[in-house]
Amino acid sequence: MSRIVLVTGANGEIGHSLLEAFASSGDRDVISVDLRPLGDAQRGYVKWSFEGDISDPKLIEQLESFDIAEIYHLAALLSTSAEKNPELAHRVNVNGTMGLLSMARRIGQRTGSAVKFLFPSTIAVYGMPSLEVKTSAGAVAEDVYLDATTMYGINKLYCERLGVYMSERYGQLTDDAGEKTVDFRALRFPGLISAFTVPSGGTSDYAPEMIHAAAQGKPYACFVRPDARIPFMAMPDGVTALLNLAAAPRESLTRRVYNIGAFAPTAEEIAMKVKSAFPAAEITYAPHPKRQAIIDSWCADVDDSAARRDWGWKPTFDMDTAFDTYLIPNIAGVYAG
Ligand code: SER
Repeated sequence: MSRIVLVTGANGEIGHSLLEAFASSGDRDVISVDLRPLGDAQRGYVKWSFEGDISDPKLIEQLESFDIAEIYHLAALLSTSAEKNPELAHRVNVNGTMGLLSMARRIGQRTGSAVKFLFPSTIAVYGMPSLEVKTSAGAVAEDVYLDATTMYGINKLYCERLGVYMSERYGQLTDDAGEKTVDFRALRFPGLISAFTVPSGGTSDYAPEMIHAAAQGKPYACFVRPDARIPFMAMPDGVTALLNLAAAPRESLTRRVYNIGAFAPTAEEIAMKVKSAFPAAEITYAPHPKRQAIIDSWCADVDDSAARRDWGWKPTFDMDTAFDTYLIPNIAGVYAG
């Protein structure tokens, strides 16, 4: 029997790729949730589709009637959007997550099996104290430098901890303590780059924006300095990571929150790669002080050895293969015609 999975933020960048992956494996009945209606292609990938705000208790009530086995909670305001409207971000990112975790708990109690809760976290949970420390620290592990400076980073860091709490320590002083009805698993994503979609409202957006602008023959003014460095990943690897973490046997997982990395170029290294694929690309730099400060606060790279050891994480794409075999061959088709 197909298991029922819920995907929130189904219309976002990760959502689109994840729905496609579910459709090709064909072993799940998908419930989608998004503020906006799904496009025709995506609509064909899901069995039930809801439009609404994830922090709306009425929507949660409707979703709760399904015997959901897995939740992929992708809905969130990204870092730049969240800085423009911090209270809204807190409501959606935190209250939305808490509502879903509680729902997962109740579904797990009802069905007698723990609901897997897959949560995309982020490098925004890090807060590097200075550029010097960022450079010398290099690839950082999960439990250091957790001094998030953005509303989004704070929201995600707190929700990581809420997920662990709901899975392991819920109601320590109540009769419920000890029940394991939520199985929370989080991935800290680096900036994701898709050939088929562009992000909205993130701060790592300069990389995908630069590539998509070049593919359309448009000039691009990059909003961070050439030396700005954070980790990135090609979208297919992000989706594979979510699916592999979901499939990993619980006993092999030594943590509930994992870093995953692939490549960690500077903005200039990305620009050089873009120019070699699109020689006419016009890329200039116009750093936005506040967005630059956000990027400076994120780590230069992540140590993902725990994910590699526990559940066999390994990106398919490094920077060269991401460009040469995934981004460049696909992106031209996106804008053709
Ligand atoms: N891509 C996200 C952002 O820029 C980081 O996780 O907000």
